Amino acid sequence: MSVTVRVPAKVNVQLAVGAARPDGFHDLANVFLAVGLYDEVTVAPADGLRVTCEGPDAGQVPLDGTNLAARAAVALAGRRGIEPNVHIHIAKDIPVAGGMAGGSADGAGALLACDTLWGTGATRAELLDICAELGSDVPFSLVGGAALGTGRGERLTALETGGTFHWVFATAGRGLSTPAVFREFDRLTEGLSVPEPVASPDLLAALAKGDPDALAAAVSNDLQPAALSLFPELADTLEAGREAGALAALVSGSGPTTAFLARDAGSARTIAQALRSSGTCASARTAAGPVPGATVR
Ligand code: C5P
Repeated sequence: MSVTVRVPAKVNVQLAVGAARPDGFHDLANVFLAVGLYDEVTVAPADGLRVTCEGPDAGQVPLDGTNLAARAAVALAGRRGIEPNVHIHIAKDIPVAGGMAGGSADGAGALLACDTLWGTGATRAELLDICAELGSDVPFSLVGGAALGTGRGERLTALETGGTFHWVFATAGRGLSTPAVFREFDRLTEGLSVPEPVASPDLLAALAKGDPDALAAAVSNDLQPAALSLFPELADTLEAGREAGALAALVSGSGPTTAFLARDAGSARTIAQALRSSGTCASARTAAGPVPGATVR
């Protein structure tokens, strides 16, 4: 018997970052949108805990106890007093270390898959609790759709969306470490007064209306200067997407994946093709959102 869960990637349409807290984390106003690029996590009974991974970036995925999928299995088993004897297989399609919550997706996916496999019957609230322990973006990977994340991003409020938004995502050929990007944010803002992060009313209205032009005018990412400082070539990718007709171009989360908002599906295909030929990125993919969160297949 095995259980497979499909989990989407995310893009942050707004990422407002406050000053570093005493615990090192940053308070956020983080507007997440789940988009149709997916990892699939399959769990099956085994003699011990084992993680395997397939996909073009599989070589970059840690297969030890640090993998969020393994940590999810251990966390759920620990709460039930059982052994996490499970083989977790990840079919990876979300860019690794790309700012699209690929690791978080695997954590949420493994948690839901193990809960189903073991019949642990965890409530939604308990699953969300474990997700928040695993990482700031993991709760959103479970719920999907569109949501505002506050605190360090883990406290979610679901958001209404009035339509589907079409995106292009360009991968960069190498990853960026999220803690390193936040450290660079701290360095760049040293001595400055960093305002409290708040969700933009214009952005929430654009999402609710399903209006891509209004959304394009309102997207923002406070981590973008830090990501560009560590990875200056991303500016060329952003420019290539704008030239190809993107309504908005921004770094996705902590990067280095770049995200381009398109007017419609046809425009997204055109922008993806232009980005591929531009020589400024490793690959370019189209995906639309919102889509549901982690789902048992
Ligand atoms: O929560 P998660 O483990 O995904 O966070 C990874 C790292 O990103 C943290 O160790 C921290 O350096 C940084 N981070 C932060 N503030 C947040 C979320 C993440 O500084 N709100």
